[in-house]
Amino acid sequence: MKTQRVLTGITTSGTPHLGNYVGAIRPTVRASRLAEVESFYFLADYHALIKVGEPARVQRSTLEIAATWLACGLDPDKVTFYRQSDIPEIPELTWLLTCVTGKGLLNRAHAYKASVDKNTASGDEPDNGVTAGLFMYPVLMAADILMFNAHQVPVGRDQIQHIEMARDIAASFNHLYGEHFTLPEAAVEDHVATLPGLDGRKMSKSYDNTIPLFAPREQLRKLIMGIVTDSRAPGEPKATEGSALFQLYQAFASPEETAALARAYANGIAWGDAKQMLFERLEQEIAPLRTVYDELVQNPGQIEKTLQAGAQKARAIATPFTARLRHAVGLRPLYAVAETPKRARAGKSAAPSFKQYRENDGLFHFKLLDADGRLLLQSTGFAAPREAAQTIARLQQQGNAALAELAPLLTFQGAPDAVAAALSHFTQPSA
Ligand code: TRP
Repeated sequence: MKTQRVLTGITTSGTPHLGNYVGAIRPTVRASRLAEVESFYFLADYHALIKVGEPARVQRSTLEIAATWLACGLDPDKVTFYRQSDIPEIPELTWLLTCVTGKGLLNRAHAYKASVDKNTASGDEPDNGVTAGLFMYPVLMAADILMFNAHQVPVGRDQIQHIEMARDIAASFNHLYGEHFTLPEAAVEDHVATLPGLDGRKMSKSYDNTIPLFAPREQLRKLIMGIVTDSRAPGEPKATEGSALFQLYQAFASPEETAALARAYANGIAWGDAKQMLFERLEQEIAPLRTVYDELVQNPGQIEKTLQAGAQKARAIATPFTARLRHAVGLRPLYAVAETPKRARAGKSAAPSFKQYRENDGLFHFKLLDADGRLLLQSTGFAAPREAAQTIARLQQQGNAALAELAPLLTFQGAPDAVAAALSHFTQPSA
């Protein structure tokens, strides 16, 4: 049984590198194969707009990251794999969440605070160069997560605060409007080492020390030959501790292979030979994936199709859920205006209700539920929401009198007298 929903996104602002592969892509693809998880993976292209102002780069990165997920074995039939900007419900939810998010909460976000601190240190206005997009980043991310009620969100350490903010925002919304959101948890892989880059510091775009995951073979060799080492000569024993080369090897090799390299270090292996070992070990894992990747990147249309199919799957959840949230906050059609809360508090119990929704077939349906939520009537599918709404309006205004004429559009799911009783609630609202 699928019990846990796991969701994560990658911002489409660059080219995936070995650090992304070892830290995020490889473990999440493996996790997605577990039977008991339902996974959601997406390309965070709205997030990319916060830091990238080059349209071509956003598009190229979207292609590269999508092809990377697929080449690394993500199965779009088993998981929901989509592009954030294909889900218009995400920015809609972002607004609903914005309205329950304390500005003070966002003031405390690390990424925003870092910009402010930098400005303050250099004597600039605190918000110099800070866009509202950067400020709102955590709310957009909360919408990503809460839309699918994810339990677990695999992220790097730098993102933990954002998951905590998503929890806070979800709790505020739930407190105000009822229990709609699952409170998500960050899943941080402690045993996944942060990979060192070419210069020995953490591999990161911002240090410009990355090894692109799918660099062509010869470029990969060159990059590996350029990894910093100390100046020990061939024949001199070498320390594995603090060796970027060794840590990179370890991230790809079996424990036995790693032990063998450690012995070779002790026996004074030449740096050039150790680099060649790393290159070959990397190639062994990456070359087959690179072949698939290169093919995929040549066929962007195919990837586009895969993403469209993924968006459809994601929206089958997002569209009805957003309808429910809209209703919860009071963004409601006017044909059944609720009683004022004051009257409701005066002891009136729940009332029968019409619910409008959209099916997977893209058509608009409605149903009539009695006061206890039991299904009484079910409509056929309408091409436009207005048609469904007009039919509801007729039932509410004319009640049972409209039933005969509307019968071809309706399926009775409850006893006729239960239907009649429910409809009379609308025609005689004071009864
Ligand atoms: N902010 C994440 C990063 O830069 C990417 C991201 C966007 C994300 N939305 C998300 C990750 C939702 C997890 C869940 O790495």
